[in-house]
Amino acid sequence: MRCLPSDLLLICARHRTRSGAPRSQWIAPGAEVQSGIMQPGPLPFEERASVRGPGLAARLRQAIAELHLHVESTALARAIVGSSITIEPYLALLDRLEPVHEVLEHRLAAATLEDLVPRPLVFRADALRRDRCALGRRDLSRGAGHGSLSLWLGSANGGHLVGAAYVIAGSALGSAVLRPSLVKAFKTLDQPGDGLDYHRVPTAILREAWSAFLARLERLPEDLAADAVDGARRTMTGMLDIYSSAC
Ligand code: HEM
Repeated sequence: MRCLPSDLLLICARHRTRSGAPRSQWIAPGAEVQSGIMQPGPLPFEERASVRGPGLAARLRQAIAELHLHVESTALARAIVGSSITIEPYLALLDRLEPVHEVLEHRLAAATLEDLVPRPLVFRADALRRDRCALGRRDLSRGAGHGSLSLWLGSANGGHLVGAAYVIAGSALGSAVLRPSLVKAFKTLDQPGDGLDYHRVPTAILREAWSAFLARLERLPEDLAADAVDGARRTMTGMLDIYSSAC
């Protein structure tokens, strides 16, 4: 057993709940990590009340909360946040993310769910391909190939796809934190075409599209909602796998 490293607490402190309370409260100071698995401390009462509510957005958020913290504590995520990442491992990450985006976009379109999900936050495969090119991937067809997440997405049902879209759309919120660190790491001019377009959703669109999506989620029928929670959890688990294996 060991104590949670203070830099991880710092990363977590960047997180704010929608009520403005720092998400670092989700881990009590001095919380312990056993075999690399974080043991969250008790939630403060107000947050417990809000995540226990019946709303699908709250259920989705709760379903992935711990996995999100694990993703943030991977060596790759730390290297990105700390601007010590180099091009090769970052490209390896994009190689792995591309099939996930490609399959999800294809399946969402085929299931006519494109209008339910926040398009600019989810449909980022083109930006991802542009980035791979801009950062020096000569042969875009030679990517990482399909991993278990994209294979699963290929046969996921409508509810699962909504949950997956929630995770991918939410990651665009994290991009607002990651892009400045990547700009610093790769010394770009922070403008379109610099290899970081995947993380470049304008803030106004980001917040508006995200809130509208969360509102639409609340109106989904319950059977779809249950699968969405499952889909979000599986997608975030696949993302943890991707982040753990790159770098
Ligand atoms: C790599 C390091 C990461 C950092 C530093 C980070 C940071 C953040 C931040 C700052 C937010 C916004 C919280 C808010 O405004 O309420 C957020 C939300 C979110 N992130 Fe990440 N993120 C990271 C990776 C990821 C990854 C890889 C995924 C999944 C592909 C992901 C999925 C989400 C989701 C679904 C949300 C919205 C739900 C929530 O707030 O929990 N994040 N993240």
